[in-house]
Amino acid sequence: MPRTLFRWLNRAKFAPFADLPGPEPTWPLGNAAAFGRGWPWERCADWARDHGGLVRIFLGSSPALVVSDPALIGEILVERWTEFHKDAPCAALVPVITRESLFISNLPAWKAARENHPLRQIPAEPWHAALLEPLRATLGELGRGWVERSAAGPLELFDQTQRMTFAAFARAFWGRAVPDTHYDWFQTLARTGSWRMELPDWWNRLNWFSPRFRRARTAWYDTYQQYVREARARTGPADSVTQADSTAVTPTGPGRGTQAIDPLVGETPCDLLHVTLAHGSPLADAQLAEALATNYFGGVFSCSSALNTALWQLANAPGELARLRAALDRDLPRDQPWTIAALTRCEPLDHVIREALRIAPPVPMYFRSSPSDRETTLGGHRLPPGTNLFVMQWYAHREDRFWEDPHVFRPSRWENGFANQHPYGSPHFFPFGRGPRACVGGDFALFHLRLALAVLVSAFDCVFTPDSRPVTEFFFGVMMPRGLRARWTPRPA
Ligand code: HEM
Repeated sequence: MPRTLFRWLNRAKFAPFADLPGPEPTWPLGNAAAFGRGWPWERCADWARDHGGLVRIFLGSSPALVVSDPALIGEILVERWTEFHKDAPCAALVPVITRESLFISNLPAWKAARENHPLRQIPAEPWHAALLEPLRATLGELGRGWVERSAAGPLELFDQTQRMTFAAFARAFWGRAVPDTHYDWFQTLARTGSWRMELPDWWNRLNWFSPRFRRARTAWYDTYQQYVREARARTGPADSVTQADSTAVTPTGPGRGTQAIDPLVGETPCDLLHVTLAHGSPLADAQLAEALATNYFGGVFSCSSALNTALWQLANAPGELARLRAALDRDLPRDQPWTIAALTRCEPLDHVIREALRIAPPVPMYFRSSPSDRETTLGGHRLPPGTNLFVMQWYAHREDRFWEDPHVFRPSRWENGFANQHPYGSPHFFPFGRGPRACVGGDFALFHLRLALAVLVSAFDCVFTPDSRPVTEFFFGVMMPRGLRARWTPRPA
């Protein structure tokens, strides 16, 4: 009866999708009740397994398509990406981030935001090379802090890696160690964005925000605009940083030279802000501040999610941990400076990160909408205007038909050319997305993950408590394991 009632009440919405398979919706929630029995990406993966690569579902009376067929995902994200725009969760995220932000803007504004983004404007490799040792020092110091604090009791990894990533990003983007208040503002903004993503758009459009949120938002954007103004005043006119194989990014224009720019930065500022200004950016101060500040929302949760997965999986695979440590001790000795080449080429490190991103992709699914002003087709099926599409990364990464033992953490699967055959952004492995809207911070994220994991694994021992179990939390669009508590001690030389 609830099935017949649903179909009859929603017959107009059902008709365009009548030729598509899917779970039978029932009145009044459609298929949404299934989301109460586990995470949406797990339910969607079940439906993909049961019904195929393009599945029709109803969330209440709103239709949506679950897309897991790699060729159709390719059409949406790569070949026909201009047709499928981002809709959800834009209303939820404004004004945590701005409407013009790269994350949620669409063509034509997106094109300029992408082209002018600092991470697209400067050459990545010399920047990473210059940042390597200062960032390594920051990460080592934070790790020693974990050792001190865990003497009093095990630490929740979820909190620690988020703070660590935030501090590392502060160093990398602004050249500063920022006070705890910045982290509190960040969490206030992120919590607001995260719970708004759970709410209907009509509520979000009422734009009700707590006084605490408003204070945090003003302080957040004002502070970063001030940093940009200060940096611009110090750096003088722009010149170009283009050396492709340099190990340092050294500003040489007037007003720079050997002048100490910031006690934390030293004489050769290598943070993204200063490097971008030295390179020359078309962005106004407020736009540049926004682009850099939004990087925290893009990367802190997803990088800490990947780090947590890697550390937990390694702790449960002693053979893999031993192999990684042997490689780190050989390629990146603890008592010597590291080079970007050695960090990037350390294969066991690279394979652990790929495998962590495969087995638990931080962004398990994401959303697109078909054009709002016209019909289109996908896989030979007619889509009414504004059809919501769920792009299933989770399923692609863990599909039995493609991956051998997909639920097993096995970094060695990436050996013998497998990593080259299935690079980032390929049909079954796309933790950073695919096509022109793939993650703009992907290269930096990999640099940061390699460095953080190398520092933590080579310098420290981490012992999880016997009751540690990964309990998934979905926060700001990112899947993160909570419930992992560990004690940290220095690793004997
Ligand atoms: C392990 C770490 C990360 C993962 C797994 C990840 C994943 C992703 C994915 C899957 C997308 C595409 C989503 C879609 O197509 O709807 C994306 C986009 C984006 N990411 Fe990341 N990301 C990570 C780190 C970062 C970092 C460190 C930054 C900034 C420094 C960043 C900034 C962005 C931005 C701005 C976009 C939007 C790009 C656009 O639409 O043009 N992400 N990320």
